Amino acid sequence: MKTRIIGTGSCLPANVVTNDDLSQIMDTSDEWISSRTGIRKRHLAKDETTASMSIEAARRAMENAGVTAEEIDLIIVGTVSADYITPACSCEVQAAIGAERAVAFDINAACSGFMFALHIANAYLQCGTYQTALIIGAETLSKIMDWSDRSTCVLFGDGAGAAVVRADEKAGFLAFDLGSDGVKGRVLSGVNRTNNNPLIQTPKELQYIHMDGQEVYKFAVTMVPASLHKVIEEAGLGVEDIDYFALHQANIRIIQSVAKRLKVAEDKFPISLDHCGNISAASVPILLDEMNQRGLLKPGMKIALSGFGGGLTWASAVLEW
Ligand code: COA
Repeated sequence: MKTRIIGTGSCLPANVVTNDDLSQIMDTSDEWISSRTGIRKRHLAKDETTASMSIEAARRAMENAGVTAEEIDLIIVGTVSADYITPACSCEVQAAIGAERAVAFDINAACSGFMFALHIANAYLQCGTYQTALIIGAETLSKIMDWSDRSTCVLFGDGAGAAVVRADEKAGFLAFDLGSDGVKGRVLSGVNRTNNNPLIQTPKELQYIHMDGQEVYKFAVTMVPASLHKVIEEAGLGVEDIDYFALHQANIRIIQSVAKRLKVAEDKFPISLDHCGNISAASVPILLDEMNQRGLLKPGMKIALSGFGGGLTWASAVLEW
């Protein structure tokens, strides 16, 4: 038994912010951002929330898959920017779409969140606990960015992507590779609330995402090719058998470096970061949905996926579409 993606959907905020727009409010330029990252614009939420984008992406994925809310057994949202500590974003999705039978929970594996959630769903579906799952990656990163830190805030955007997955006899996921390296975790961190109660008083400083960009870059360009090699081999394939590599959309230079290390042409690496920026857990499912909508994904194709980032975490998979 395999786990197969049978539908995809995504949702981006209406508000588009170009690099030129950012240069009006901070000391940066389109030339600096686009030459170092490939990012030209991003969508930043005004009225949308992590839950509202998740719900819209979920509805589109269910419509694309042709499944009803009654059929959904499991909902997992990968996010670091849920609207509430509780209820979980996944529970808000469950309520909005009316998936009354579903078990719903969120996970935090930062930019690998969607891939980790897929792996969890794969395990449940393989052992027959559930049959149909809704997997979402969703972020409103603009609310946890330090907008005075130009080296980080220009990289990120907001949005949500979703996939419906179902147990299938023939096609589906062939292999997964997941990993974590908590020792290096502080190179990309965002502190939550500080303790501030009658017993302990800590300064009420607002905390935002902080990143050592160069360390994260080094991690990505070594770990992602290694993980992809591992998962492709485990799937019984060679790098040349992969039709597309759908990677987390952090930086065009990371993607180019991975392509070079794998000795694969760059046109096998579809891109959404030019118009979305880095949307952490939402990057991979949004890219997959764009590929699906563009008709790039054909039955029998072999697709490699890879998410990587905070934790540090990474997760790759190979599937037959
Ligand atoms: N606009 C203009 N100048 C900027 C800038 C901005 N938005 N951000 C930083 N700079 C300046 C710096 O102040 C520095 O100036 P200085 O040399 O006068 O001190 C200069 O540009 C170089 O900064 P540096 O941080 O060394 O740049 P870099 O070449 O390492 O590129 C990143 C920075 C963030 C683009 C790069 O490290 C990167 O892509 N890392 C990976 C990050 C990532 O993808 N993280 C998410 C993974 S999930």
